[in-house]
Amino acid sequence: MPDSSPVNLNIPGSFLQKTCTVVVVFCALHLSVTVLYYFNTFEIIKNSVFARNQQQKHINFTTVYPTTMLQIAPITETTATFKTEAEETKRKELEQCAETSPLLVGPLRVEFSQPVDLEESKKQNPALQEGGRFTPRDCKALQKVAVIIPFRNREEHLKYWLYYLHPILQRQQLDYGVYVIHQYGEETFNRAKLLNVGYAEALKEYDYDCFVFSDVDLIPMDDRNIYKCFGQPRHIAVSMDKFGFSLPYQQYFGGISSLSKEQFEKINGFPNNYWGWGGEDDDIYNRIVSKGMGISRPDGTVGKCRMIRHNRDKKNEPNPQRFDRIAHTRETMNGDGINSLSYKVVEIKKNTLFTEIIVDIGSPRR
Ligand code: BGC
Repeated sequence: MPDSSPVNLNIPGSFLQKTCTVVVVFCALHLSVTVLYYFNTFEIIKNSVFARNQQQKHINFTTVYPTTMLQIAPITETTATFKTEAEETKRKELEQCAETSPLLVGPLRVEFSQPVDLEESKKQNPALQEGGRFTPRDCKALQKVAVIIPFRNREEHLKYWLYYLHPILQRQQLDYGVYVIHQYGEETFNRAKLLNVGYAEALKEYDYDCFVFSDVDLIPMDDRNIYKCFGQPRHIAVSMDKFGFSLPYQQYFGGISSLSKEQFEKINGFPNNYWGWGGEDDDIYNRIVSKGMGISRPDGTVGKCRMIRHNRDKKNEPNPQRFDRIAHTRETMNGDGINSLSYKVVEIKKNTLFTEIIVDIGSPRR
């Protein structure tokens, strides 16, 4: 008689069940690893796209580092520069730009981990005119600003400066030009004299009414720190990472500052005889105060700046005479300044992103 009991039927069934369970668990595991990996990669891409394009207008004013994806189209529509005479006439008829530009985005991410490329900066700033000039298209700028950068052997820093600053200055709706004043030869560096040269040369080109003097290695971390002039000479780099985001001392006037034409003339410009590092900015501060002016500053948050780290340049060693000179600003300033400036322009090169003026400023009187 055949055996009708279901004895062996359970054995293959439970084997199949176990195999299925293992396969399902494996698939679930695989899926979660894939999903996790996908989100991580997306985060990295998102962050790097942001780091490269954070300079464009963004709507969120409150977050320190906005994280949404940004429009990556360069500023063209609202800020393209007028080129023809008819357009220039039209510009003259334009209304003044707003006291506070509506294009500002607030805090910016500034970093120097990835190299930047001049060609990319050119593409990002199609509205620039030769020589690093820009004029807002839709309104008449409140000020005509020459940005003066004293320079020697800092090509890499200049690339970062141009990359970060052009979009910022355009969002600030300034009618501006960038002048890189390149000290010719091997003589000891003289920052303040180069700044005087920048002032004089920029005025030969255009009727600027405001002058911003900036070191090449300083980048503002907030575009509300406006590169323009105020009722009093302005200290712009008030909160540098190098000094723990505060002033190293109350009278500090270094890094980035701005003076109107009138303010600059009132103090007879800057000293010409500070060769080497240090003191010239203190002399400028003394000049300002001795003419009865004060210093205007943004608050510590808006005034944050990053400095590109570097070793001390050769031929820019600390100037041992600086303490003595600072002590005598009042006596020297009327005879040493823009009224006693002498130099020889070696070459002027017009680049899309800036005007380079190579200048022989001589040597210290020994
Ligand atoms: C120098 C200044 C310099 C400041 C901060 C002072 O001792 O005289 O020129 O900007 O230190 O480094």
